[in-house]
Amino acid sequence: MSVTPIRLFGDPVLRTPAAPVVDFDKELRQLVGDLTETMLEAGGAGLAAPQIGVGLRVFTWYVDGQLGHLVNPDVTPVGEETEDGAEGCLSIPGFRFDCRRHLYVAATGWNMDGDPIRVEGSHVLARAVQHETDHLDGVLFVDRLDDEARAAALEAIAEAEWAGMGGYLPTLKVSPH
Ligand code: NI
Repeated sequence: MSVTPIRLFGDPVLRTPAAPVVDFDKELRQLVGDLTETMLEAGGAGLAAPQIGVGLRVFTWYVDGQLGHLVNPDVTPVGEETEDGAEGCLSIPGFRFDCRRHLYVAATGWNMDGDPIRVEGSHVLARAVQHETDHLDGVLFVDRLDDEARAAALEAIAEAEWAGMGGYLPTLKVSPH
């Protein structure tokens, strides 16, 4: 396992839909290990494979002291309830914006050994699962903001000191959520 540079907003890999995992092999377990280690090192609540430059449908989370991962996730909202909450992204370091998400979700998928798993989450876990699933579709949380908030967010991000650094920070100096 190793800590891997995190791709930043502006890197095309973050806008590329990821492919389903077909082989549940040693490389997949290595990927889950790298995602986990990189996420923990960066202090994040979740990390998706495209964020470390791997176009596969895999993400990890660390919420309420619980580590998890999901391969080829299928996520469904449970009920109608939504909530606004401050959200950040390791690929957009240093920023948090209020984003509306479903309060409850159910997710099915596989673990790295190929066993089917089901995850039900609310609040922060539900938010993380929705955020990371978006990454697998090339969607970033700023896309989910309303027009005015998104315009302001993109303007702020364009001014970030890391903007235009070629897609990754060699060392993460800030600790965004
Ligand atoms: Ni993110």
